[in-house]
Amino acid sequence: MDTRNDEWIRTGIALVDHQHEEYFRRLDILLAILGNSELNAHELRKSFDYFRSFAVVHFDTEELLMKISVYPQTEEHMKMHEFFGETIERLVQEMNTGGDIHYVAGELKVFVSGWLQDHIETHDMKLTSFLKDKISAGIANP
Ligand SMILES: [Fe+2]
Ligand SMILES: [Fe+2]
Repeated sequence: MDTRNDEWIRTGIALVDHQHEEYFRRLDILLAILGNSELNAHELRKSFDYFRSFAVVHFDTEELLMKISVYPQTEEHMKMHEFFGETIERLVQEMNTGGDIHYVAGELKVFVSGWLQDHIETHDMKLTSFLKDKISAGIANP
């Protein structure tokens, strides 16, 4: 399924949507890397670098929005973000300590393929509809 063309995945908060779109674009690149007959370790590392930076930049963006809007489910949402970051770090660690690169790449693929879609549906939508309600009430303007 091409999630980027599915309207339901759009939160309506432009910055958040752009960052999610970039994630899906990078996911496509990862899938292309894994579709090659030989796994390119350098390209795989670049994928890891991106998902690590996503865990900082994108989550910081959302967490700032939670903070300025005094979002009541901040703690629960942040726990999901932490889980993502910890999983990526665990896989990086596995790769750096001589783990099987094909296994690590497969784990990364399964994890990042499912995570964002689930996360948008369950947590980002709740956050962004809360933000949009605040924006229409004139309380916040991210
Ligand atoms: Fe989130
Ligand atoms: Fe998000």
